[in-house]
Amino acid sequence: MTSLSKIVLIPGDGIGPEITAAVQHILAAAGAQIDWVPCKAGLAALEDCGEVLPEATIDAVQQHKVALKGPCTTPVGEGFSSVNVRLRKEFNLYAAVRPVRNLAGVDARYQDVDLIIVRENTEGLYSGVENEITPGVVMSMKVATQTACERISQWAFRYATQRQRKKITVFHKANIMKMTDGLFLRSAATCHQRDYPNIEYETAIIDAGCMRLVQDPTQFDILLLENLYGDVVSDLCAGLVGGLGVVPGANYGDDGAIFEAVHGSAPDIAGRNVANPLALLMSAVMMLNYLADKDDDEVHRTTGERIREAYDVALLDGCKTRDLGGDLGTAEFAEAVIERL
Ligand code: NAI
Repeated sequence: MTSLSKIVLIPGDGIGPEITAAVQHILAAAGAQIDWVPCKAGLAALEDCGEVLPEATIDAVQQHKVALKGPCTTPVGEGFSSVNVRLRKEFNLYAAVRPVRNLAGVDARYQDVDLIIVRENTEGLYSGVENEITPGVVMSMKVATQTACERISQWAFRYATQRQRKKITVFHKANIMKMTDGLFLRSAATCHQRDYPNIEYETAIIDAGCMRLVQDPTQFDILLLENLYGDVVSDLCAGLVGGLGVVPGANYGDDGAIFEAVHGSAPDIAGRNVANPLALLMSAVMMLNYLADKDDDEVHRTTGERIREAYDVALLDGCKTRDLGGDLGTAEFAEAVIERL
């Protein structure tokens, strides 16, 4: 008899509450052994408790180590700093992983895409250090530390080995940012030569790498990138396989993980029951696999596999939300998946 896993649930903002409700509904119908611990973050928390990342949410993630998170809105320009960045830094969730694959039944510009983005999640231009030097002159500091560069390189090569992946490609701009991207690149090269010579390794200057991506994404296996490049390239890659509705994500640390879709809070469609919950559902399946490994509990993996099969069949049957060319609402898509469990 398997025990319930306590998982922090952060619905987030915009479409977050709709898609998390749909995912919770599917997981419950699949019999997932999960006891949710609901917590607030983002605008929802600001309205309720006056801060975007309340202490209670931090404590809950600290205690339970694993969270499923909807997207949180971050205002452009003035306003509070990103909840997402703060959560990743607070819990040292240094490895963001985004699998980018074609799904049967989902139209896409390319077929046979199967690549994984590994993004350094804690530094780079997301250091949050911005200064006004003098009126009209501002600067943003890009930070790279040897510790973080080596840590993400080790993580990516270990992950590649565990998943029987063949090749890692680093996208960089070390021709211009010789110190920061140079350190990132050197760390990856050293890790490859010293510890993982059997994994194929290549590098690409990011502009040329992006061109290669849109010419033929099937030539890539694992992409290893620093923080900002990983953010931008994740959305680009989502566009290769059908859009933001089909790319899940995980933020891993050594002692916990937060699972969330790549997309944001989509305020343009929030509250209308049209958002696609699939990317968050796929993130939840990644979470179930993580729990299976962590707790050595195959029940979580079996549940995740049943959910994956059910959404695969639903898509093949033409059950899709608007972003994928279908006409189902968020809740109706969830029902279609549940019917196929
Ligand atoms: P976005 O990803 O929210 O939306 C981009 C476009 O994709 C929009 O047209 C939207 O309607 C569509 N879209 C996104 N997810 C969808 C889904 N599940 N189903 C159907 N259509 C979907 O990016 P945007 O507009 O740049 O950002 C909105 C807010 O989200 C910002 O405040 C941003 O900071 C935040 N954000 C939060 C993230 C997180 O919490 N992890 C990640 C990215 C952005």
